[in-house]
Amino acid sequence: MPPPARGGYHMIQVNTKNISAFVPQDYFPALEADLARAQGWLQDATGAGGDFVGWVHLPRDYDREEFARIQAAAKRIQEQSTALVVIGIGGSYLGARGVIEALCSPNYNQKKKDTPNIYFAGNTLSADALHEIVELLGDQDFSINVISKSGTTTEPAVAFRFFRELCEKKYGKDGARERIYATTDARRGVLKSLADEEGYETFVVPDAIGGRYSVLTAVGLLPIAVCGVDLEALMGGAAAMMEICARGGADNPAWQYAAARSALYQSGKKIELLAAYEPSFRFMAEWWKQLYGESEGKEGKGLFPASVEFTADLHSMGQYIQQGERLMFETVVRFEKPLHDLAVPRDEADGDGLNFLAGKNLSFVNEQAMDGTLLAHVEGGVPNLIVQVGQNTAQTMGEMIYFFEYACGLSGYLLGVNPFNQPGVESYKKNMFALLGKPGYEDKRAELLAKLGK
Ligand code: PA5
Repeated sequence: MPPPARGGYHMIQVNTKNISAFVPQDYFPALEADLARAQGWLQDATGAGGDFVGWVHLPRDYDREEFARIQAAAKRIQEQSTALVVIGIGGSYLGARGVIEALCSPNYNQKKKDTPNIYFAGNTLSADALHEIVELLGDQDFSINVISKSGTTTEPAVAFRFFRELCEKKYGKDGARERIYATTDARRGVLKSLADEEGYETFVVPDAIGGRYSVLTAVGLLPIAVCGVDLEALMGGAAAMMEICARGGADNPAWQYAAARSALYQSGKKIELLAAYEPSFRFMAEWWKQLYGESEGKEGKGLFPASVEFTADLHSMGQYIQQGERLMFETVVRFEKPLHDLAVPRDEADGDGLNFLAGKNLSFVNEQAMDGTLLAHVEGGVPNLIVQVGQNTAQTMGEMIYFFEYACGLSGYLLGVNPFNQPGVESYKKNMFALLGKPGYEDKRAELLAKLGK
């Protein structure tokens, strides 16, 4: 059955038919009361982490003045530079990269275009990776968007030192000031102080929105707009999905997805594999992994979020999925149809025996791969959820972002955790600071060096 049309496009539909053999028949009614409670917590900000649900009404309440400034800054960057270095990590980078790769291509930088190249930096401590970006930048005119809510995260802070120095050397302090844009807390943090001192234009990560829920704030919007994506359409898609998610009940696709995940987890599944048959979806899957992993993986609980790219990974991970440990279920994101379809050519000699496909669209071939894989995996003991989305457009991305965020909030509450904190991320940071000799970590440093035998 085709998804219902709404306002000229198709809204997200969740198909749970292929999990029915793996979960109790009444799993949805059994979870309805918990879902209703979680719905209330998200809508009224009354649950655990209620200070961080600013994203729930963001597509309606976003700051129009800042939105206009983002668009103006994007235009300025397009005029002043042929490259934008986006410095950020985790929630301060994955959403922007996901949307840019999905809508503008993973090969965006190689394409002929009149928008700047994008280089993502500050998401690693690899010297080689940083060196390569500097090399790729070459003598291009560049701008910088440094993004860090806390303003203290080591990876982006270190990268920003390098690129700020490069920028100031090339354009002078005054010239650099015109090219550096900082997205950070409205009041706190060293990045905010530095930006104010230096006179950089700043954009805000709202207090009530944590990193992994921030792609529809300036965090994601500025780099996305620089690539020429229609921000109105992106926010419009999110707003349409916000309306749908605001209505609780069995028709709400986020309820359906959250309930299905919960039932599968309770039935013993430990891993959720997010699959898509579009290579451009790769970084949206990375964004999704952070969203679900950081929101749910705590207190010894939570599905492990992993991702695969089909059909490529059917030739690598396919064996394990079909016959390995029965730990996982699959959530397949299916796009409605490609933006550019191609028909398989006829070849009179038919040396490769492929004429049975001649004249058929590649999208048709891809769909048969999806259906064939679905049946094989379900028969192999891998339950299959389908998230059916519209065409790969800005509107669809907005819908999808909001849908996954909302379902994540619901899922975390069903699991009994606070979906908006990430206490575990601090452990490695403390160790790293101590080992690096950061002032204030002297005792910890001695303890760690002894453990390492150094
Ligand atoms: O979701 C989160 O909170 C994290 O992934 C952060 O986004 C990430 O650690 C980067 O933090 P910051 O923006 O403070 O540099």
